[in-house]
Amino acid sequence: MAKILVTGGAGYIGSHTCHRLLEAGHDVQVLDDLSKGFAHNVPEGRLNVVNLHDAAAMDKLFSAHEFEAVIHFAAFIAVGESSREPERYFRNNTGGSLALLDAMKRHGVRRIVFSSTAAVYGNPEVVPIPENSAWKPVNPYGESKLMTETTLRWLSECSGLKYVALRYFNACGAEPRYGVGEEHDPETHLIPLILKAIRSGKPVTVFGQDYATPDGTCIRDYVHVSDLAEAHVKALDWLMAGGEGGVFNAGTGHGFSVLEVIRAAEAVTGQKVPYIMGERRIGDPAVLVADSAKLQKTLNWIPKYATLEEMVASAWAFESSHSHGD
Ligand code: UFG
Repeated sequence: MAKILVTGGAGYIGSHTCHRLLEAGHDVQVLDDLSKGFAHNVPEGRLNVVNLHDAAAMDKLFSAHEFEAVIHFAAFIAVGESSREPERYFRNNTGGSLALLDAMKRHGVRRIVFSSTAAVYGNPEVVPIPENSAWKPVNPYGESKLMTETTLRWLSECSGLKYVALRYFNACGAEPRYGVGEEHDPETHLIPLILKAIRSGKPVTVFGQDYATPDGTCIRDYVHVSDLAEAHVKALDWLMAGGEGGVFNAGTGHGFSVLEVIRAAEAVTGQKVPYIMGERRIGDPAVLVADSAKLQKTLNWIPKYATLEEMVASAWAFESSHSHGD
């Protein structure tokens, strides 16, 4: 059991990871400024409403708890927004990470698991994408995460910081045991938008049907949020046991097109998905599929959710119990 600080623990992947850490017997405190996350996602008595840039509040939090490691989720995640307001993304994501690393240094915390993204690859040259592919983000969001990875790599080299960066592909689904799920505002992600379209009858737009893929729509590697939560716990346990750390892709290695996701949602719900064909969304690569062999081998990480239908069904269960019909 370790004393862990989880930043961004009121968000989607962060809250699932908190619940999983508690199940695994770890002691968890959450830092979240609630600018995006929700207090109701955080297990009772664990929430500290603090912004990463508030050094005095950070010192107070670190002094009150002798953290042995940090899992760092707190970040803005909207790719389109990042192109409109890059300063905010670099300040919040990269700058916030630096402020966190400074606080960790002041308080002697030397282990961190970082929430990174497939967006560091941009338009990949090789698919499935291995970790050593070229890193060429095509939006400020991906760059802000890559800059944090670069900082971690240099701190590891120069000062012995131990880190794991997990590059997620498309997180989806919800864990029924925990009562939390995907609740972004505004929602931009495909699966919740498809499920909302079923409930509201208002069509979801398929962004582009002229990609070089079998059905013309974009292909993504959907990975269940509970499997991602498990990857964090494994990464943490590995660092606590003296593991050397590094950068890992986290995806299932299977790609599904937008139309395949729509068909999976129809199979799961027994209802038609209202959708219309639209223009391409700027910055969308045609295909993003992970080569996760390194994570599977190093941390013995095996995704439990093997089919798209299972993942969509868990999202549907959450959506059905929490939607307001919009
Ligand atoms: N899509 C639609 N219609 C929609 C929303 C999405 O057709 O209304 C399509 C997108 O074009 C894309 C696929 O569905 O092809 C998935 O889109 P999401 O917005 O759900 O996810 P992204 O692949 O854009 O983004 C995800 C994460 C990001 C991360 C990125 C890495 O949400 O945080 O993967 O590439 F940066």
